[in-house]
Amino acid sequence: MRSVNGLVRQTQIYLAGVAGRRPRVPMDPQRLEDRASRAMPSRSWAYIRAGAGAERTMAANREAFDRVRIVPRMLRDVSTRDTSIDLFGRRLAAPVLTAPIGVLELAHREADIAVARGAREAGVPMVISNQASRPMEAIARELGDTPRWFQLYWSKSDALVESLAKRAEASGADAIVVTLDTTILGWRPRDLEIAFLPFLRGKGIAQYTSDPVFRALVKETAVSDGPTPRPTLSALRTLVELVRAYPEPFLPALRSGDARAAVQRFVELYSRPSLTWEDLPFLRERTSLPILLKGILHPGDAARAVDEGIDGIVVSNHGGRQVDGAAATLDALPAIADVVDGRIPITLDSGIRTGADIFKALALGATAVHVGRPYVYGLAIAGADGVREVLSNLLAELDLTMGLAGCTSVAQIDAETLDDGPGRIPSRTTG
Ligand code: FNR
Repeated sequence: MRSVNGLVRQTQIYLAGVAGRRPRVPMDPQRLEDRASRAMPSRSWAYIRAGAGAERTMAANREAFDRVRIVPRMLRDVSTRDTSIDLFGRRLAAPVLTAPIGVLELAHREADIAVARGAREAGVPMVISNQASRPMEAIARELGDTPRWFQLYWSKSDALVESLAKRAEASGADAIVVTLDTTILGWRPRDLEIAFLPFLRGKGIAQYTSDPVFRALVKETAVSDGPTPRPTLSALRTLVELVRAYPEPFLPALRSGDARAAVQRFVELYSRPSLTWEDLPFLRERTSLPILLKGILHPGDAARAVDEGIDGIVVSNHGGRQVDGAAATLDALPAIADVVDGRIPITLDSGIRTGADIFKALALGATAVHVGRPYVYGLAIAGADGVREVLSNLLAELDLTMGLAGCTSVAQIDAETLDDGPGRIPSRTTG
């Protein structure tokens, strides 16, 4: 894959301006968010924007990036720059992947398919979510040659875990990311106050309803027929919504009760709060793909992951959606990078909003980063084009930041390119 050239993109944008054309998708992170909020129904917006509790970890993620400053170096011939990196045997155009985000149908009717097209056009690998709105096989087809990873939630059914891992392999995934921080759903006031959870409406469960093991489990499910609730209009609407979401014609799905049974089964199986380190060999024995652990914040867990033969770590707090008050990822990164000591790749997400943020994460020890909500905002505003624009803008800004900071390769982005703490310019005179 070729490297990114931010200057070309910047020039194209200004030249289009001469012809009277302006970008459709805002570049400023706050304006991007504001525009997206207007493009979505309010309950969709609540789900995507939501953080846990008082959203202090969401704020901390941003504050951590704001605290770190770049100290650019001059006179270093930055006329050609190389943003590419090697990761799990692939050359990637830039150290940037999407973050796995579920229920994308809330943002756009084309959901993950539009993200796949936008990511392919931007040259950014996609991490396919376990809670996607489309089966991974369809997403993989749209990605073509673009690399993809699969993100797994470890359900209560071992057979389902195995089936999803096999499907990920068959879909050409380069790695499996096991998300550890969501064995229980966080306390999210924005969603709780409107009593809205998309899964209960059959949304975001396409990896399950397309899975042979899951479908067999559904057939065994007797839809619970406890006391029949009064059929309110809203309950009927929800029933129609979830039957529509089921991958079968409406009337058969309604008659068989499979659509309702699928949601019920999903709720029963979705997560395994009892998961421990001892469970990981089960997956190791069933896939030859590299395994990454997502949600690591403590250096002790990072050290254990390396000891257990895990292939990579995703430093993440789920975009502040799980533990309100959890550490910011950029704050957690240096200690993790220290203990890992280059033995396995470390990726990071939560709070990445600009190319400069990507630069800072790389400087503090990340091998690559995942972009989360911003690409969903692009999706809501302009479908696949919006995803492509958001990702391309981030890559362009990363390339220009690199050049302006005096770096011509990703390897040159290290702690030496940063200040020594808030407002403290390094006193080094060498390097
Ligand atoms: C997520 N995230 C997530 N993570 C995961 O492993 N599987 C998933 O299905 C989802 N779903 C999901 C939905 C929504 C609406 C959001 C906002 C996030 C977490 C995601 O991968 C990533 O960790 C965060 O989005 C990163 O934070 P920022 O960049 O959004 O602040």
